[in-house]
Amino acid sequence: MNLFNVYPLFNINPVKAQGSFLWDDKGEKYLDFYGGHAVISIGHNHPHYQTQLKNQLDKISFYSNSVQNELQTELADKLGKLSGLEDYNLFLCNSGAEANENALKLASFHNGKSKVLYFSGSFHGRTSAAVSVTDNPKIVAPVNYDERFIKSEWNNIEQLEAIFEKQGNEISSVIIEGIQGVGGIMIPTVEFLTKIKELCEKHDTVLILDEVQSGYGRSGYFFAYQEFGIEADIITTAKGMGNGFPIGGVLIHPKFQASNGLLGTTFGGNHLACVAAIAVLDVMKDENLIENAQKMGAYIENEIKDFPHIKTIRRKGLMIGIELDRDCSEVRNNLLYNHHIFTGNSNDKSVLRILPALNIKKEETDLFISALKTVLENL
Ligand SMILES: Cc1ncc(COP(=O)(O)O)c(C=O)c1O
Repeated sequence: MNLFNVYPLFNINPVKAQGSFLWDDKGEKYLDFYGGHAVISIGHNHPHYQTQLKNQLDKISFYSNSVQNELQTELADKLGKLSGLEDYNLFLCNSGAEANENALKLASFHNGKSKVLYFSGSFHGRTSAAVSVTDNPKIVAPVNYDERFIKSEWNNIEQLEAIFEKQGNEISSVIIEGIQGVGGIMIPTVEFLTKIKELCEKHDTVLILDEVQSGYGRSGYFFAYQEFGIEADIITTAKGMGNGFPIGGVLIHPKFQASNGLLGTTFGGNHLACVAAIAVLDVMKDENLIENAQKMGAYIENEIKDFPHIKTIRRKGLMIGIELDRDCSEVRNNLLYNHHIFTGNSNDKSVLRILPALNIKKEETDLFISALKTVLENL
């Protein structure tokens, strides 16, 4: 059997990883400034994470959600404390798309409405409703397309108000990324987010913050939207939550009523996934990783801001978009093949996406900074 060929692949086969480095099958070392799409939050193979998972393997890996699982309560407790959202409730699932799928569904159960507002440049995942609110026609199949999903322009308050004016009472939820990642590190204005919140309250519309990429300390806040001082109804998370172990979460405001069978999953919240997610939170807390994300992000921006061919830098914490005066693919390939540094791209071809682990060290950022300087100066 062959693999169903849907991914363009680099010809690199990593077989070992530690901290912010990877090694391929030929023994070549790579610096990871992308974390496999923002997934590696506490660095590869963190010793605490490794130990906790190995210990759990010796106890129990899985049982279904029909029994008590104290690891789920421990995870919810620690997540509530570190995020400052102690009164929210947690539903555990397996991925970002699944978290958004459940959030959209829960919103609709809650207010009985069926329309959803989303924004240009958005990426919310590839499952049914999640892909319907993703702004990329190439990945929305006819089965997913429906006019109940309404697109509004990013950071455009006028358009938002006009849509709510006409259809506000039919809009079940608004879904928005804390910071758009795939869209090219697009940061919402405080006026825009505040207006969304105000319109949602006025029209009994649920506000869903997709923090799958921008959450878990990446932005220098636990969740990126928290910088703006608004309250979200539902927050979705995945990626950095398990540092590579598949897990997603839906944080749900206490006003939502749970009932047996309303949501569900076979694998969500399994023992191994919970242990991985608890280990991530422990390390984030013990090693002050949110603070490190703020510090290292500011350091990188300051060091690279005057490099040639950079038009703008959009950044919060360690979520960094470097907009070049050209397509970034040459720079990205040069960094990878000549300097052995992984970086990312985005739907905006000119934006290089930088998402290192939250415990990146200064000397590791210096390797990236000096390589980027060489590459840009030689364009
Ligand atoms: C903001 C955002 N939401 C949702 C998703 C989907 O997550 P997953 O690939 O885990 O389904 C992604 C993935 O890139 C994302 O960036």
